[in-house]
Amino acid sequence: CRCVPGDAEEPVPRAELLAGVAGAHGLLCLLSDRIDREVLDAAGPGLKVISTLSVGFDHLALDEIKKRGIRVGYTPDVLTDATAELTVALLLSACRRLPEAAQQVRSGGWTTWKPLWMCGYGLSDSTVGIIGLGRIGQAVARRLKPFGVRKFLYTGSGPRPESAAEFGAEFVPLARLAQESDFVVVTCALTPATQGMCNKDFFARMKKTSVFVNTSRGAVVNQEDLYEALAQGQIAAAGLDVTTPEPLPTDHPLLSLQNCVVLPHIGSATYATRSTMAVLAARNLLSGLRGEPMPQELTL
Ligand code: NDP
Ligand code: DGY
Repeated sequence: CRCVPGDAEEPVPRAELLAGVAGAHGLLCLLSDRIDREVLDAAGPGLKVISTLSVGFDHLALDEIKKRGIRVGYTPDVLTDATAELTVALLLSACRRLPEAAQQVRSGGWTTWKPLWMCGYGLSDSTVGIIGLGRIGQAVARRLKPFGVRKFLYTGSGPRPESAAEFGAEFVPLARLAQESDFVVVTCALTPATQGMCNKDFFARMKKTSVFVNTSRGAVVNQEDLYEALAQGQIAAAGLDVTTPEPLPTDHPLLSLQNCVVLPHIGSATYATRSTMAVLAARNLLSGLRGEPMPQELTL
C-alpha cells in the first residue's frame, strides 16, 4: 500500500482531506472527520473501504456509503471497558462534586469540617436508568452494581432480556426512566431517533436530586434545555464527556455552572485502548482492501 498519513493528533483540514482522498482505495478516518457525499465524490469510484477509529459511526453518511458498495470497519468491544470506567468516574465526579471540592482546597474555601458542606448524592440504594443497554451500557451497569444500586431501569428500541438479566434491569419508556432514576446514564448510539432525546420535557420529569451523565454523543442532549435544568435546580448535577460542538467553547454557559462536569471526549482514552483501536482499525482497512472478511465490519 502507498499510505498518505495526516497529522497523527490533529484532524486533517477539510480541504486537505478532499484533495488527499482523490483516487484512494481505502480511508482510515477519525470520528471528527465527516465522511459525506462530498468526501465520497472527491475520493471517486475507486474507494472500496472506510475504516473509522471509533465504535460510533454517526459521522459517516451510511446510506450514501452503502449505495456505492463501500465497506466500513469500526472498533467495537475493544474500548468498552475504558469507556465504562470513564463513565463511572464521571458519574462519581458529578454526584460527589469532586472538581468543585478539589477547587475549594486550592482556593482556600476549605475552612473546617462542616456537616453539610460539599454534600452530594451517593449510589447506595439508588435507581440507575441507562439509555442504551448496549456493550458500554451493560459494562457501566456491571461496574455500578457493587456500589449498592437497588434497581436498574433501561430504555432502547426494544426490550433486551438477555442483556438485562445480569442486572435484573427493567425495560421502561423514556419518560418513566426520567421520573424514577436517581442517576441517568446515556450510552446509546446517536441516530435520528436519539438526537435531542434528552430535552426540556425529559429534564422536567427528572427529580431535583438526580444526576445526568452522557458519554454517548453530544447531540443526544439538547444542551440549552440541560443548561436551564441545571441552572434552575430542576436536576442536581450533570457529567458530560461529549458535547455539541467539540471542543465546547470556553465561554459556553454550561462551563459557568458548578454542578456540571465537562470532559473533552476522553471515554476511550487509555494508552492501551487507543493502541488496540489503532491496530484494529488498520487491520479492518487492510482486510477490506484485500477483499477479505474484516475483523470488525459494520453491517450496512
Ligand atoms: P452498542 O451498539 O452496543 O449500543 C448502542 C445502544 O444504543 C444499544 O443498546 C441500542 O439499544 C441503543 N439505542 C439505539 N436506539 C435507541 C433509542 N432510540 N433509544 C435508546 N437507546 C437506543 O454500542 P456501544 O455500547 O459500543 O457504544 C455506544 C455509543 O457510545 C457509540 O455509538 C458512541 O457514540 C459512544 N461512545 C463514546 C465514547 C466516548 O469516548 N465518550 C467511547 C465509545 C463509544 P437497542 O439495542 O435497543 O437498539
Ligand atoms: C467512539 O469510539 O465512538 C468514541 O467516541 C471514541 O473512542
